Amino acid sequence: MPSALPLEDTFGDILKKAICGTGAGSAQLARATGIPAETIEQWLKDEGVATDEQARALATVLALDGGKLADSAAQRWHPPPIERPDVRRHSQDPQPSNGYVFFLEGGRRAALVDPAGLPQNLLRVLREGDYHLQYVLITHKHADHCDATADVARAFPQAQIVMHSLDVHAIGPLAKSALLLRDGETLPFGDDAAIRMLHTPGHTDGSSSFLFRGSLFSGDTLFAASVGGAYGDNSTYRDILNSVRSKFFTLPDDTVVMPGHGPPSTIALEKQHNPFF
Ligand SMILES: [Fe+2]
Repeated sequence: MPSALPLEDTFGDILKKAICGTGAGSAQLARATGIPAETIEQWLKDEGVATDEQARALATVLALDGGKLADSAAQRWHPPPIERPDVRRHSQDPQPSNGYVFFLEGGRRAALVDPAGLPQNLLRVLREGDYHLQYVLITHKHADHCDATADVARAFPQAQIVMHSLDVHAIGPLAKSALLLRDGETLPFGDDAAIRMLHTPGHTDGSSSFLFRGSLFSGDTLFAASVGGAYGDNSTYRDILNSVRSKFFTLPDDTVVMPGHGPPSTIALEKQHNPFF
C-alpha cells in the first residue's frame, strides 16, 4: 500500500471548506486581511499561490492553524508511506474513494470497509485475497462509499452489513438486514480482536468510523491534512471538527488513519499538520 496518493484537498479546497463552515465570505476575508477578494477567489480555484504571510492572515480569520495552512499553500507536507500488515487498500474506480479490507488469521476473517465502485473489481479484490468476509462496514451514505453494497451482499450473503441508522437508508432494501451500531459499540472479530464503531457526525449525520487494532477507518470525516465537507442534514462544520477532536485526537498518537480519500496518515501527524486543528 505505497503512499503515492496525492493529498485529497488542495489549499483551495481547505479554504472553501473553512469559508463555507465559518460563513466568512471572500469579501469579509478581503476586508480582514487586506488581500484583494479577486486574489482569494483565484486561490479557491487553485490558481496562484498564497505566501506564508497571506496564508497566516487567512487562517486567523477562518480559525485555522496559520503555520499548517501556510504549509498547505506551499505544498510543504505529505505523509510518509504508511502500511499495516493486516490492511489492504484498493481504489474504487470509477469512484474516487478508497476501500479497505482488514483481516485476521491470513484472511480467514476479514472485514470490508465501504463497498463501492465497479462490483467486478471489488469482487476480484475479495476473491484474490481469499477473504472470508464477516463484516461489510459502511462509513456513510454517499454513493462513492456504498454503491456496490448489493453486489457484495449477493456474493457474500453471510457477511453482516454494519452502518449507522441515520445513513442506512442509502442501501435501500438491505437496510432491513443491516446491523445498526451506536457510538462506542464493538463487534467481536476473531478470538481476541474487536472492531469499535465511533459515530463521527459532520460530513453526514450518520458518518461513522471504525477502529481495528490501531487502524482507524475514518471515512470522509478526516483526511490527511484536511477534513470532509460538512454536508449533514442536521450536523455541521462544528460537529465534524468536534468529532475529530473528541473521538480521534483522544486515540493513541500512533493510530493509523485510513481515510475514505487520499493517503493514510497517523493521529500524531494530523495533530501536527492538519490546518483545521
Ligand atoms: Fe462522502
